[in-house]
Amino acid sequence: MTIRTILKMGDPRLLRVARPVSAFDTPELHQLLADLLDTMQAANGAGLAAPQIGEDSAMVVFGSDAPNPRYPDAPIVPRTVLINPVITPIGDEEQLDWEGCLSVPGLRGMVPRWQSVHYSGYGVRGERIERTVSGFHARVVQHECDHLLGRLYPMRMRDFGQFGFTEVLFPDMGAGAEE
Ligand code: NI
Repeated sequence: MTIRTILKMGDPRLLRVARPVSAFDTPELHQLLADLLDTMQAANGAGLAAPQIGEDSAMVVFGSDAPNPRYPDAPIVPRTVLINPVITPIGDEEQLDWEGCLSVPGLRGMVPRWQSVHYSGYGVRGERIERTVSGFHARVVQHECDHLLGRLYPMRMRDFGQFGFTEVLFPDMGAGAEE
């Protein structure tokens, strides 16, 4: 079990476009996956992208099989490993909702995302993944895949009046308990 250090906003490695994975089912890729899952779990993250642990690979993990303590009211998103993802919006409807990020600790902001998307990519053994999703699942996958484009959620925000410290915005969640 390896819990890696999560890079924080300001680190230039979070701003790179991630390199596509070219070899599947390798020991290195399985190790990276294990590190991502261990690190995400230890941080109670809803998702984690390889660039957040300093790895220049187009790979994200998200979801869990139980409710997330950082997002206790959010619907369950199945645990997913997604490599070389492609996201296509369905329609032009957006939704606004609060997001946080393990690379932007202690803060939340209101972020517009596509309401519904189709996403495709590969699992760790190179198996094809195709899904059409909406709502929170769509938000999570858009947030994580943005990390592969070097984009953090504040870069997607339009109203900085809706950006602040989690403990101030959501005092009932308990300061420090969520990140
Ligand atoms: Ni993030």
